[in-house]
Amino acid sequence: MQVLVTGGAGYIGSHTILELLTAGHSMVCIDNYANSSPESIRRVESLTGKKVVSYPYDVRDVQRLDAIFESHQIDAVIHFAGYKSVSESVAKPLDYYSNNVGMTIALCTAMAAHGCKKLIFSSSATVYGDPESVPILEDAPLAPTNPYGQSKLICEQILRDVHVSDPAWEVVLLRYFNPVGAHESGMIGEDPRGVPENLLPFIAQVAVGRRDELQVFGGDYPTYDGTCLRDYVHVVDIARGHVSALERGLDYTAREKAVLTVNLGTGRGYSVLDVIKAFEAANSLIIPYEMGARRSGDVASCFAHVEKASKILGWKAALDLERMCRDIWRWQCSNPHGYSTE
Ligand code: WQD
Repeated sequence: MQVLVTGGAGYIGSHTILELLTAGHSMVCIDNYANSSPESIRRVESLTGKKVVSYPYDVRDVQRLDAIFESHQIDAVIHFAGYKSVSESVAKPLDYYSNNVGMTIALCTAMAAHGCKKLIFSSSATVYGDPESVPILEDAPLAPTNPYGQSKLICEQILRDVHVSDPAWEVVLLRYFNPVGAHESGMIGEDPRGVPENLLPFIAQVAVGRRDELQVFGGDYPTYDGTCLRDYVHVVDIARGHVSALERGLDYTAREKAVLTVNLGTGRGYSVLDVIKAFEAANSLIIPYEMGARRSGDVASCFAHVEKASKILGWKAALDLERMCRDIWRWQCSNPHGYSTE
């Protein structure tokens, strides 16, 4: 299939484009590089020996988006583009709603105008908020606690409403838990702007000497070691989940005439201290850290119920925490400053 990937130069987007090219699909990418680098696409092309047609545009640029649909036979769209920082969303809610929700509306409008009605949407476990129980089922209550999670939930609701208005739409909503790691080549990976908000990139920057020590945000949670549990899932597994969603999920929604919502996680929670120990053991190094205060908005435990992905998509996470730690470290060592050449 020829797939339009929005945000294809980003962390999950670039890994997904690589897996889709490897699976024999062809790629058209639109990315304004607000939180990514065109270098990631160049490296995916060199890793696969295949071409990616790229457009450096904002998805909300409706004229240019129309031109892309007019110039290419787009069979399906995977929509990654969006801002994704929880703390930034609290400080700048209007930017998050305008960008994340605005892009989804512009994209669906252009798709409908060009008769393209197959969409896979990059959603997030943050739509669950603080879960009543774990592992979290897809039909658990949805109660995001920040504008980022809220923007993802609004986009999900828009897509559900679009499907109700026209059941010819085939929509798969993928709720990622905590994507971490990097492609085994070490050539593509997560390249956060400024101080990393997320745990693994911060640990990797401590290990490579860019940060002095890790602050553990809270050691008094009601968990086995007092630190928060999360479902860390290798980004390559997440990428492969998109190939399964494209090749099996869309057909499922057509048969069932319903939007398909699926968790992408491992089904297992690891604590912050587990991750530190796993990173140290996998890479034979020490991560200096300090126990600090809780970070506002964090929930004690969040990990996925994963049966639906296995039953419907035939997808299961295959790469373990040790592999996640080894792969992010290889990426960080080969690219101490990410994609920038400084
Ligand atoms: C994990 C744990 C922190 C940094 C976020 C988004 C979510 C998704 C994944 C987009 C928590 C602790 C972290 C640090 C720490 N992104 N931590 N010191 O918050 O579960 O999820 O990223 O979809 O939407 O909400 O991931 O990696 O930020 O934190 O102790 O320097 O590590 O408190 O317990 P989170 P995270």
